[in-house]
Amino acid sequence: MDSLTNKNVLLGVTGGIAAYKSAEIVRHLKKSGSSVRVVMTKSAEEFITPLTLQALSGNRVSSELLDAEAEAAMGHIELAKWADAILIAPATANTIARLSSGRGDDLLSTVTLAFDGPVSLAPAMNQAMWRDERTQENLDRLIQKGYEVCGPGSGEQACGDIGLGRMLEPLEILQIFSNSFTKGKMSGKRVLITAGPTQEPIDPVRFITNRSSGKMGYNLAEAAIESGARVTLISGPVDIPKPSNCNFVSVETAQEMYDAVMHHVKEKDVYIGTAAVSDYKPVNTSNLKIKKDGSGKPITLELEENKDILKSVSELQDKPYVVGFAAETDNLLVNADKKLKGKNLDLIVANDVSDKEIGFNSEQNEVTLITLKEKTLIERQSKKKVSRQIIDFISDQI
Ligand code: C5P
Repeated sequence: MDSLTNKNVLLGVTGGIAAYKSAEIVRHLKKSGSSVRVVMTKSAEEFITPLTLQALSGNRVSSELLDAEAEAAMGHIELAKWADAILIAPATANTIARLSSGRGDDLLSTVTLAFDGPVSLAPAMNQAMWRDERTQENLDRLIQKGYEVCGPGSGEQACGDIGLGRMLEPLEILQIFSNSFTKGKMSGKRVLITAGPTQEPIDPVRFITNRSSGKMGYNLAEAAIESGARVTLISGPVDIPKPSNCNFVSVETAQEMYDAVMHHVKEKDVYIGTAAVSDYKPVNTSNLKIKKDGSGKPITLELEENKDILKSVSELQDKPYVVGFAAETDNLLVNADKKLKGKNLDLIVANDVSDKEIGFNSEQNEVTLITLKEKTLIERQSKKKVSRQIIDFISDQI
């Protein structure tokens, strides 16, 4: 379980008889080199005292959502930012139902809701509760979101019943949980991706946009998730399903995308700007629909430049590894190279959009990866495969 070394693990303990085993989980996590913070539900405190888990973890145990002392030091958002992974053991049927419906009415549910990394659950409940279709539906929903479910095991239960529902043993749980960090070359890395077009309103019914489908950015997000990264995807309006198990932020205008990027870029290892950000926006947006006057004379729409998001990220003091896209119709490599240097990027992905087979909205792509040191051609294939190779290339550089 080497992958647990130097990881920040948030252990959620909920109110089941198996809560006494949480103490052993904390002990094993600490032995493996993890830092552990424990969040308990109120009912968990009926089964094991916070003091035990505090002594073993070496950190204050939290359970109150509104705890003035905790908020000053580590409130729910700080805890969610601090954690590399969350393990909830035992996870009761009630907690599973609440997580599945996105409730945020206690500290554990709020932290989990605010967290964008790997979450593992070790269910523990009576066999009839486990079999109940509502529990199974709730779990299916969480699994679809990318949650890992460890167990349960089968055997004699505290209530005397026999069947599935027992919490797995601490070491069995940790074996599965440790995979959260070893799934791929990007394990534990935090990646921010922008995708799709932006829409710049002219009036309430019209806007300026472009032909970006978002496919490249969404495929890159999926490839990064597959490779173990924690992904935040900031997307303009597109018509494709969002990837599961990522933190998804939806925006419309370039200014909204800029604001969202600046908010989320903190503590990211990689920034990939695939979005086709509108270069210009109308200087004035009319609150009312602009009417034609019937004179046949041209009207003028005054435009001003939008901020360059990519350049702004690469100018940050604590900048991540910055990747840009150059969608060009001519002089592909020369123009891409200019952007690499002009925007101070680590990598630029050059994409010839004049070729209909590989341009906007197509299923295929062929790109050249350009760094200051080398040029690497990724041959024509599906955007999914191209994305995997780009992520592989990036993971070798960081
Ligand atoms: O300069 P150009 O728009 O061709 O550069 C393309 C790259 O810059 C893409 O990665 C795109 O996401 C990014 N970009 C940006 N903000 C803008 C314009 C482009 O982040 N306003």
